[in-house]
Amino acid sequence: MPRKYFLRTFGCQMNEHDSERIAGLLEADGLEATDSLADADVVVLNTCCIRENADNKLYGTLGHLKSWKASRPGAEIVVGGCLAQKDGGRVRERAPYVDVVFGTHNVHRAADLLTRSRRDGPVTEVLEATVAEDHELFPSALPRRRRHGHAAWVTIQVGCDNACAFCIVPAVRGPELSRPTGDIVEEVEALAAEGVVEVTLLGQNVNSYGRDLTRRQRHRGQGQRVRPLFAELLAAVSGVEGVRRVRFTSPHPKDLRPEVIEAMATTPEVCDHLHLPLQSGSDRILAAMHRGYTAERYLQRLADARSAVPDLAVTTDIIVGFPGETDDDFGQTLAVAATASYDSAYPFIYSPREGTEAAALSDRFVPADVVAERFQRLRVVLERSALAKHQARVGRVEEALVEGPSKKNPDRIQARTGQNKVVHFAAPDRSVRAGSFVDVAITSAAPHHLRGKLVQVTAPPRRRTRIPVVAG
Ligand code: 5AD
Ligand code: SF4
Repeated sequence: MPRKYFLRTFGCQMNEHDSERIAGLLEADGLEATDSLADADVVVLNTCCIRENADNKLYGTLGHLKSWKASRPGAEIVVGGCLAQKDGGRVRERAPYVDVVFGTHNVHRAADLLTRSRRDGPVTEVLEATVAEDHELFPSALPRRRRHGHAAWVTIQVGCDNACAFCIVPAVRGPELSRPTGDIVEEVEALAAEGVVEVTLLGQNVNSYGRDLTRRQRHRGQGQRVRPLFAELLAAVSGVEGVRRVRFTSPHPKDLRPEVIEAMATTPEVCDHLHLPLQSGSDRILAAMHRGYTAERYLQRLADARSAVPDLAVTTDIIVGFPGETDDDFGQTLAVAATASYDSAYPFIYSPREGTEAAALSDRFVPADVVAERFQRLRVVLERSALAKHQARVGRVEEALVEGPSKKNPDRIQARTGQNKVVHFAAPDRSVRAGSFVDVAITSAAPHHLRGKLVQVTAPPRRRTRIPVVAG
């Protein structure tokens, strides 16, 4: 009987995407997926370390897994991803029963390391970004197991060259490296041939995409103006036959160039959605964070984007309680959030990450009760604007891409509009399948979703146009 693996992913879309690769590698090695821990022989945790509660979640989960492992002879535990990259050998110090630890630059080694640990005992392998080869950083050549047939993530860049004072990502994921445009387009073509209609381009700072390639080309004396800029990439990916929707995440407000806004406005495939992390509305705090923009500049960029793309949905990330944040600073965040009127937003409580600049400012940490109260006030403002934005869709007919049955009510269908809003509706029969495009009349709104009535199916799921390449 094939051995079974249970894979749990913590954190962002980048991690979800790495998990698809890990799953693909394990399956190529003969393992089978299971959703049940009770059936599993191998548990793989793909970890996140962006905030402290991500660490706590991992070590909490590992605590539970100790008895699971003890009760199953031959069972194995694998810890990969960001927290493994950050903590390295410390993972096994805290949980010695872990069999394999691998970092963010070793995703391609997941299956090999598991085989090695079965043969030779526990193994920790965490590569530095700088020693990894290109194909290791962009594991597009690896097998993958996608969760959806119609939508896919595509990595365009890894790492980050910014130095936001609160953020651990540059230390964990290394410096910014862009993937060559040709490789990206090739991957999108292969995905489209498999029936994918929506791609989401992933990077820490997508609109600086290509900066390092241009630098490298100049370095090699290959001319000045081979400029695979993000705007050009958007156009190239949108031009791939079969691709009907292109999304991207996340752009940095300081690098949101007019060309990108123009590409969004003029390329129908690029969705009307911009995730533009604000982090704070106070110029003083933005400067301390090293964000490279003021609140006014941010709002100006947002206004430019909205005037070029009139039906643009905007979402954001905001941190509450950055060291030294005063009531006045926080008041400015509330004001900017209200002015920006976001469609949806992720507020976070500041979490000190060892090794970051802000973590050293412990004398200026904001007391937890003050932060909690600010966080609640911010949520009220964000929910109010999300509800207003959602209510403004009522009465319209929206095109949506069907994802499958609603999670809460399997009798209903869940689909996603171009603005990235989830819409639920009842389906008359089974003809409304995942991957179909539908028109939905929006009938009511909540802060986090819409409800509607099916008008018509406009396109059935696309079928594969050729046998997919499993290992590229
Ligand atoms: N504390 C709280 N939130 C953080 N983020 C990143 N680092 C931290 C931290 N140390 C948030 C930022 C970022 C999002 C992905 O996570 O808002 O945009
Ligand atoms: Fe972190 Fe800033 Fe880079 Fe985003 S841009 S990954 S917040 S350092």
